[in-house]
Amino acid sequence: MTDRVIPITDLRAQQRVPVIPADADAPTGLLADSMARPLHDLRISVTDRCNFRCVYCMPKEVFDKDYVFMPQTALLSFEEITRMARIFIDHGVEKIRLTGGEPLLRKNLERLIEMLSRLTTRNGQPLDLTLTTNGSLLAKKAQSLKDAGLKRVTVSLDAIDEAIFRQMNDVDFPVADVLHGIDVAVAVGLAPIKVNMVVKRGMNDAEILPMARHFKGSAAILRFIEYMDVGSSNGWNMAEVVPSADVIARIHAAMPLHPMAANYAGETAGRWRYADGSGEIGVISSVTQAFCSDCSRARLSTEGKLYTCLFATEGHDLRALLRAGHSDAELAAAIGHIWQRRSDRYSDLRTANTDGLPPRANKVEMSYIGG
Ligand code: GTP
Ligand code: 5AD
Ligand code: SF4
Ligand code: SF4
Repeated sequence: MTDRVIPITDLRAQQRVPVIPADADAPTGLLADSMARPLHDLRISVTDRCNFRCVYCMPKEVFDKDYVFMPQTALLSFEEITRMARIFIDHGVEKIRLTGGEPLLRKNLERLIEMLSRLTTRNGQPLDLTLTTNGSLLAKKAQSLKDAGLKRVTVSLDAIDEAIFRQMNDVDFPVADVLHGIDVAVAVGLAPIKVNMVVKRGMNDAEILPMARHFKGSAAILRFIEYMDVGSSNGWNMAEVVPSADVIARIHAAMPLHPMAANYAGETAGRWRYADGSGEIGVISSVTQAFCSDCSRARLSTEGKLYTCLFATEGHDLRALLRAGHSDAELAAAIGHIWQRRSDRYSDLRTANTDGLPPRANKVEMSYIGG
């Protein structure tokens, strides 16, 4: 058992009230941060709760029965979320991902999806509207999500072996239910479906090949994610990271692979295709090959704080502005001001840090900020 680092301060309370610059121009859709990175992708956390306790994300020792989640009144309402989304789109956002916690636990989520699916990009195109789920409720909800206007889903799945999967989710959830959820999502047309596997050495690295074999030739694109030092509660250790290069080498030895070009600038995953033509896989190398230089992702927490990096320690309290009655123009000006000053590149710094230690303590939890 590794030692756990239990946070002693509640970092969710750390915040800055955003400045509203009086002389801001209207959004042009061409907003850039201090490293010339655009704002393209908005990830919205709709709940900080989850029915899983994945060991790398919500360890039971921290997220136990005494853990205090956000009260209902703290959450942004669907109307507030949609208004924020519209303003972010004015600044150039074209992709929205709903996350959590487990987003399908948020009551009436389909209503939010309907509201968001009516929004279009600045060029009048439909949004890339997607969602990350643990798949536990997907079989039940896939059709209603599709009907509400969701385009695609990404399912987290860390093992195909029953015992290892139960160990990873730590609530004894059966793998067959998630696999069934994926099948239903494929059947209703929530494509392309991606399956994300976080690889933690000694826990599920023996599952790399079985997972690859299972999804090879299927409708789903499997992606292997390096276990990250996100948050402050998972007791992260460099020795538990399996570098993507090793993942590719292991799969290539059994099922030859060729590299592929990225789909878009700033894509998190490196893409590889099977030499025999039976589909592709991806590797997300946030530890060994960070991708901060193209990072165009903003995160809106469950209670309306803007985080400009997954590894941030502080959010910008947009809800305070919303609920103080500020106009769309003022909110847009505040967001523009924050983004223009953004200089985050945490993973780049941690990759450069060869002693294997995370360069920062007191990071917010991923279940709260959204993956
Ligand atoms: P696509 O739109 O399908 O390309 O999805 P995506 O890869 O942008 O998003 P997804 O939520 O599937 O990301 C997969 C995983 O990559 C996350 O769960 C994180 O582990 C990691 N990840 C995503 N965004 C970031 C980021 O901005 N920084 C870091 N360090 N890791 C990220
Ligand atoms: N390292 C890498 N990815 C993580 N996720 C959560 N915690 C971590 C971590 N420590 C990601 C996984 C999961 C999604 C919800 O969040 O991709 O599928
Ligand atoms: Fe829940 Fe996803 Fe975190 Fe697992 S990784 S505990 S499913 S939010
Ligand atoms: Fe973006 Fe921060 Fe992730 Fe780097 S570490 S890719 S800046 S979210």
